[in-house]
Amino acid sequence: MTKVIFIIGVSGSGKSTIGKLLADELGIPFFDGDDFHPKSNIKKISSGHPLNDDDRQGWLETLNSLAIQQLLKNSCVIVCSALKQKYRDTLSLNFENQAKWVHLSGSFEQIFERLNSRTEHFMPSELLKSQFEILEVPKNAIQLDISLTPKDIVQKVKEALEHTTEFGLFGLGVMGKSLARNLAQKGFKISIFNRHVDGSEEDIAKNFKHEFDELSTALPFDNVESFINSLEVPRKIMVMVNAGKITDMVIEDLVPFLSEGDVLIDGGNSNYHDTKARFDYLKSKGIHFVGAGVSGGEEGALKGPSIMPGGDKESYKKIQPFLEAIAAKDENDLPCCTYIGTEGSGHFVKMVHNGIEYVEMQLLAEEYTMLKALGHNPDQIATILESWKSHSNSYLLEITIDILRKKEGDDWLVNKIMDKAGNKSTGNWTTITTAQLGVPSTMIASALFARFSSFYKDERTAANRHFKSDGNSALNLNEEDILKAYQFGRLINHYQGFKLIREASNNYQWDLNLSELSRIWTNGCIIKSDLMVELVTVFKTTDNILTNEHIIQQLKDLKPAVKKVVSECILNDVPIPTLNDSISFLNNFAIENSSANLIQAQRDYFGAHTYQRLDDVSGKFYHTNWK
Ligand code: 6PG
Repeated sequence: MTKVIFIIGVSGSGKSTIGKLLADELGIPFFDGDDFHPKSNIKKISSGHPLNDDDRQGWLETLNSLAIQQLLKNSCVIVCSALKQKYRDTLSLNFENQAKWVHLSGSFEQIFERLNSRTEHFMPSELLKSQFEILEVPKNAIQLDISLTPKDIVQKVKEALEHTTEFGLFGLGVMGKSLARNLAQKGFKISIFNRHVDGSEEDIAKNFKHEFDELSTALPFDNVESFINSLEVPRKIMVMVNAGKITDMVIEDLVPFLSEGDVLIDGGNSNYHDTKARFDYLKSKGIHFVGAGVSGGEEGALKGPSIMPGGDKESYKKIQPFLEAIAAKDENDLPCCTYIGTEGSGHFVKMVHNGIEYVEMQLLAEEYTMLKALGHNPDQIATILESWKSHSNSYLLEITIDILRKKEGDDWLVNKIMDKAGNKSTGNWTTITTAQLGVPSTMIASALFARFSSFYKDERTAANRHFKSDGNSALNLNEEDILKAYQFGRLINHYQGFKLIREASNNYQWDLNLSELSRIWTNGCIIKSDLMVELVTVFKTTDNILTNEHIIQQLKDLKPAVKKVVSECILNDVPIPTLNDSISFLNNFAIENSSANLIQAQRDYFGAHTYQRLDDVSGKFYHTNWK
């Protein structure tokens, strides 16, 4: 990544000499900031009056524009006093991560003596005192004492630049390695870390570096302190380790070596409650914590994941160039990464992403169940699903087709896989959360419980002896209805998933943008689909897709088919629990007068829990002695 190396310090500290020498050594352009002062500033300085901030502002903005122009072509060196942090902020505005600071420091006497021995400089030495008074020593700069020779200073700058990286990747598991390679392929100079465990994890980072050409400039570590010290400040570190206690342990290992202003990104599938607690804990130490959902699996992490960072907005600005560079791109070539919201909102939406994912996977499993019940083999089912791509394409549909075509010997591999579905808790959390927030995400719960049911293989086998279906010969289903039922189920799934996000956004005051969120889910993530692309537009005018005319019409058109499919499957003992739930949900939800009045009466009868009345708009609660 191109960079601007700012050589800063009070007048007389030797900025121009060092800057020219460094630029020559690095073969990049050199610019002396003093050449860009307006004449009015030169006149003022030469007449012995120090510049005020107004004089400086225009000059600093000119240098900032120069730097941005240069970055488009190449790195460069710019020398400029830049004594205050706000001057440096102006100089590096909009390219903070590509600015490197070298501060030449020395004592007042050293520099005073130097200035007095110089003639060509236009700044009278007596102004030196005012410069020392306003100097704010930069925190994130390479600090070099001017007592060293210019040659030694330049050598140390080069070494520091050589051994300072822009971004750290902590944890070289499947996802960590893919993300590290992705970052390196985008030109970032990174540090990579993996712990050392005798006998099981030795030289992981070092060996990984030598496996891939793109990692030639990466610095490998298995020592935490060295890893952290290799990073320029403010440090940007992405932690890719298992969610839960391990993440906390890693944070405790890192914190002693971090500085205020550093950014720690947790890219694991962490629980959003844990992320909130970590966010608060690290905030108390001045460290920015970003809980970022990362979706797309190993391939996505390498070629472009969807990234859902949550935390403070200014934290995001520090890591934005890195995350947006490695993210997948949407159809308008925009990164599938956006600032989600504060605290644990990034991990929250990733959790719901997984909830939607569970349902999408379950719906495909149930389509497979029905098509198998009609007598189709995996290849024939794959061909049918292939024909659905024009209506309902998605990443999960595509991989399901590949899976069904995979043979092992004369049989299909899928026929040999144990039918016990595992899970790594994200679907559990979504179901728990939807219950805690009082949101009826019935399909997510159904898909999760379908996985749990599958796990009781022995009990299922025993029960099957008693409740075995008497065959599907009477199963009267056609492929068109099966497709329509699938499309119906997906619409309800996406409605429920985004409703849960909307309710959480209101509950936690996150102010989440559902259109932006669906946009970053149009590529890179597991639930990317044509439907997701459609929702980007839908969410621009509503946050409830059941109010969108086009979606409503689709559901109306699809409803007869799903009712027919579900009833036919029930009559023939074909298990499609989640598709069944989709139509049951809509029938139960889209009803003006439900049976909940009887529930209220029952609760009031035995528990005196009271009820409201339809004929009393005041909302008053009543109790009746029912006996
Ligand atoms: C993704 C996936 C991924 C998922 C794991 C395990 O977005 O890349 O959702 O993060 O968590 O593949 O998923 P299970 O919960 O099904 O084990």
